[in-house]
Amino acid sequence: MNEGQDWIYSDAVKDHFMNPRNFLFGDESQFDFDAVGIVGNPICGDQMKMYIKVKDDKIEDVRWKTYGCASAIASTSALSELAKGKTLDEATQISAKDIDDYLGNLPKHKFHCSVLGHQALADAVKNYRAQNKTKSN
Ligand code: FES
Repeated sequence: MNEGQDWIYSDAVKDHFMNPRNFLFGDESQFDFDAVGIVGNPICGDQMKMYIKVKDDKIEDVRWKTYGCASAIASTSALSELAKGKTLDEATQISAKDIDDYLGNLPKHKFHCSVLGHQALADAVKNYRAQNKTKSN
Protein backbone atom coordinates (compact mmCIF):
# COMPACT_ATOMS: atom_id res chain seq x y z
CA MET A 1 0.00 0.00 0.00
CA ASN A 2 1.44 3.38 -0.86
CA GLU A 3 1.24 6.34 1.49
CA GLY A 4 -1.70 7.94 -0.33
CA GLN A 5 -3.96 4.91 0.01
CA ASP A 6 -3.55 4.99 3.79
CA TRP A 7 -5.54 8.25 3.81
CA ILE A 8 -8.57 6.71 2.13
CA TYR A 9 -11.59 5.85 4.28
CA SER A 10 -13.61 2.74 3.44
CA ASP A 11 -17.25 3.12 2.40
CA ALA A 12 -18.28 1.62 5.77
CA VAL A 13 -16.23 4.23 7.67
CA LYS A 14 -17.80 7.03 5.63
CA ASP A 15 -21.29 5.60 6.16
CA HIS A 16 -20.88 5.27 9.95
CA PHE A 17 -19.39 8.78 10.15
CA MET A 18 -22.17 10.36 8.09
CA ASN A 19 -24.94 8.26 9.71
CA PRO A 20 -23.70 7.38 13.19
CA ARG A 21 -25.71 4.60 14.83
CA ASN A 22 -26.90 4.98 18.42
CA PHE A 23 -25.56 8.53 18.78
CA LEU A 24 -27.09 10.39 21.71
CA PHE A 25 -28.80 13.45 20.30
CA GLY A 26 -29.61 16.04 22.95
CA ASP A 27 -28.78 15.67 26.60
CA GLU A 28 -28.62 12.59 28.80
CA SER A 29 -32.30 12.84 29.71
CA GLN A 30 -33.03 11.60 26.16
CA PHE A 31 -31.88 8.07 27.04
CA ASP A 32 -32.85 5.85 29.97
CA PHE A 33 -29.45 4.39 30.83
CA ASP A 34 -28.18 2.28 33.73
CA ALA A 35 -24.53 3.36 33.66
CA VAL A 36 -22.17 5.69 31.87
CA GLY A 37 -18.47 5.44 31.06
CA ILE A 38 -16.09 8.18 30.04
CA VAL A 39 -12.60 8.10 28.62
CA GLY A 40 -10.11 10.60 27.24
CA ASN A 41 -7.66 9.91 24.44
CA PRO A 42 -4.13 10.66 25.68
CA ILE A 43 -2.89 11.13 22.11
CA CYS A 44 -5.31 13.84 20.95
CA GLY A 45 -7.21 14.87 24.11
CA ASP A 46 -10.62 13.95 22.70
CA GLN A 47 -13.29 12.42 24.92
CA MET A 48 -15.92 9.72 24.62
CA LYS A 49 -18.98 9.05 26.77
CA MET A 50 -20.85 5.76 26.53
CA TYR A 51 -24.26 5.08 28.06
CA ILE A 52 -25.57 1.53 28.50
CA LYS A 53 -28.97 0.03 29.24
CA VAL A 54 -28.58 -3.45 30.72
CA LYS A 55 -31.09 -6.27 30.98
CA ASP A 56 -30.33 -9.82 32.11
CA ASP A 57 -26.59 -9.10 32.07
CA LYS A 58 -26.77 -8.08 28.39
CA ILE A 59 -26.36 -4.73 26.65
CA GLU A 60 -29.96 -4.03 25.76
CA ASP A 61 -29.24 -0.62 24.25
CA VAL A 62 -26.43 1.90 24.03
CA ARG A 63 -25.86 5.56 23.23
CA TRP A 64 -22.68 7.59 22.98
CA LYS A 65 -21.29 11.10 22.51
CA THR A 66 -17.84 12.27 21.60
CA TYR A 67 -15.62 15.21 20.82
CA GLY A 68 -13.59 12.79 18.71
CA CYS A 69 -12.82 12.85 15.02
CA ALA A 70 -14.48 11.12 12.07
CA SER A 71 -12.61 7.88 12.80
CA ALA A 72 -13.71 7.92 16.43
CA ILE A 73 -17.31 8.56 15.38
CA ALA A 74 -17.31 5.76 12.80
CA SER A 75 -15.54 3.36 15.19
CA THR A 76 -17.93 3.98 18.04
CA SER A 77 -20.94 3.76 15.76
CA ALA A 78 -19.68 0.33 14.67
CA LEU A 79 -18.95 -0.68 18.26
CA SER A 80 -22.45 0.31 19.34
CA GLU A 81 -23.89 -2.03 16.73
CA LEU A 82 -21.52 -4.85 17.69
CA ALA A 83 -22.22 -4.48 21.42
CA LYS A 84 -26.01 -4.60 21.38
CA GLY A 85 -27.37 -7.94 22.56
CA LYS A 86 -24.01 -9.12 23.87
CA THR A 87 -23.40 -10.05 27.49
CA LEU A 88 -21.38 -7.54 29.50
CA ASP A 89 -18.35 -9.83 29.32
CA GLU A 90 -18.69 -10.32 25.56
CA ALA A 91 -19.17 -6.62 24.95
CA THR A 92 -16.03 -5.68 26.85
CA GLN A 93 -14.05 -8.17 24.78
CA ILE A 94 -14.83 -6.41 21.50
CA SER A 95 -11.43 -5.19 20.41
CA ALA A 96 -10.15 -2.32 18.32
CA LYS A 97 -9.26 -4.94 15.71
CA ASP A 98 -12.88 -6.24 15.67
CA ILE A 99 -14.04 -2.68 14.99
CA ASP A 100 -11.35 -2.17 12.38
CA ASP A 101 -12.37 -5.41 10.64
CA TYR A 102 -16.08 -4.42 10.79
CA LEU A 103 -15.31 -1.09 9.12
CA GLY A 104 -12.97 -2.49 6.50
CA ASN A 105 -9.83 -0.99 8.02
CA LEU A 106 -9.20 2.48 9.32
CA PRO A 107 -6.13 4.38 8.17
CA LYS A 108 -3.29 3.16 10.41
CA HIS A 109 -2.52 6.60 11.81
CA LYS A 110 -6.18 6.84 12.98
CA PHE A 111 -6.20 3.48 14.75
CA HIS A 112 -5.78 5.18 18.16
CA CYS A 113 -9.18 6.80 17.61
CA SER A 114 -10.88 3.41 17.46
CA VAL A 115 -9.96 2.53 21.05
CA LEU A 116 -12.01 5.36 22.56
CA GLY A 117 -15.38 3.65 22.18
CA HIS A 118 -14.54 0.31 23.68
CA GLN A 119 -12.57 1.89 26.52
CA ALA A 120 -15.63 4.02 27.34
CA LEU A 121 -17.82 0.92 27.08
CA ALA A 122 -15.51 -0.97 29.45
CA ASP A 123 -15.71 1.96 31.87
CA ALA A 124 -19.53 1.96 31.65
CA VAL A 125 -19.62 -1.80 32.38
CA LYS A 126 -17.23 -1.34 35.31
CA ASN A 127 -19.43 1.44 36.69
CA TYR A 128 -22.59 -0.62 36.14
CA ARG A 129 -21.10 -3.51 38.09
CA ALA A 130 -19.91 -1.21 40.88
CA GLN A 131 -23.38 0.39 41.17
CA ASN A 132 -25.13 -2.97 41.26
CA LYS A 133 -22.69 -4.40 43.78
CA THR A 134 -23.48 -1.42 46.00
CA LYS A 135 -27.23 -1.93 45.52
CA SER A 136 -27.07 -5.65 46.40
CA ASN A 137 -25.10 -5.00 49.62
S1 FES B 1 -8.03 12.44 16.60
FE1 FES B 1 -8.96 12.41 18.57
S2 FES B 1 -10.29 10.70 18.48
FE2 FES B 1 -9.39 10.76 16.52
